[in-house]
Amino acid sequence: MEQELAGKVAFVTGASSGLGAHFARLLASRGAKVGIAARRQERLSDLVAEITAAGGTAHAVSLDVTDIAAIDPAIDAVEQALGPVDILINNSGVTVPNALHRITESEYDQVLDTNLKGAFFVAQSVAKRLMARKGEGRIVNISSTLAHRVIGQLSIYCMSKIAMDQMTKAMALEWARHGININALCPGYIETEMNADYWQTDAGKAFLSRFPRPRVGVPADLDGMLMVLAGPSGRFINGSIVSVDDGFAVGFK
Ligand SMILES: NC(=O)c1ccc[n+]([C@@H]2O[C@H](COP(=O)([O-])OP(=O)(O)OC[C@H]3O[C@@H](n4cnc5c(N)ncnc54)[C@H](OP(=O)(O)O)[C@@H]3O)[C@@H](O)[C@H]2O)c1
Repeated sequence: MEQELAGKVAFVTGASSGLGAHFARLLASRGAKVGIAARRQERLSDLVAEITAAGGTAHAVSLDVTDIAAIDPAIDAVEQALGPVDILINNSGVTVPNALHRITESEYDQVLDTNLKGAFFVAQSVAKRLMARKGEGRIVNISSTLAHRVIGQLSIYCMSKIAMDQMTKAMALEWARHGININALCPGYIETEMNADYWQTDAGKAFLSRFPRPRVGVPADLDGMLMVLAGPSGRFINGSIVSVDDGFAVGFK
């Protein structure tokens, strides 16, 4: 496999499961040293061991992105272990399914504080560091196809992700001249442990049957675009909101 990220340091939030763990493995396999963050430390330790056994380099830090004061020290620890961060995969995210009229303040805060506020301050911390050392950087905000369509029970999540798209454009506007490319990758439905059981239920099967093409993706379906946005071939891509969703956002059949 081509090592197009050799010499780079990447930082992946929400790397203890699902897409974040997958992205960390991918970036490491392409030569980047990878800092991985989340709340579940045991899972991160296992992932460090797995990446190391495969010949890569990884360092785990504990981080709850809703604890804004903890963000800088976590990235400091990654930089001390691996060197300055060049690439951020801003991936931590949660859904708290509920009907709009039942959403509580704490559910609202959990989704917005994780998916938007936490993501903002992680990106700001990485961007400030890049600006200080005049480094060229990449920020990939992991948004969602649900930024572009609303579906019942997930409305607060949808709101957080469309805000993340606008945040991406604002960051691109202000930070491009500092040598940083910021883009949003909007996955469609990808099977991870968060949703794997759902696709086996009657409701899951009925939902799937309405997709333009009734299938769920696998994490590797995102690899091509992730590597474009994080790697050298994305040099001229900035402020883009890129869907990789098998046409889900286009509409239901
Ligand atoms: N899977 C899909 O179909 C899909 C589609 C579109 C977009 N996405 C987006 O892709 C990203 C990853 O989702 P996933 O499917 O891989 O789900 P997942 O397996 O549940 O992973 C979510 C990750 O976010 C971390 N996280 C949650 N709250 C956090 C917090 N407060 N601080 C730090 N980390 C936190 C979790 O780690 P800890 O619990 O250990 O902290 C976990 O590693 C999310 O942003 C999601 O919105 C997923």
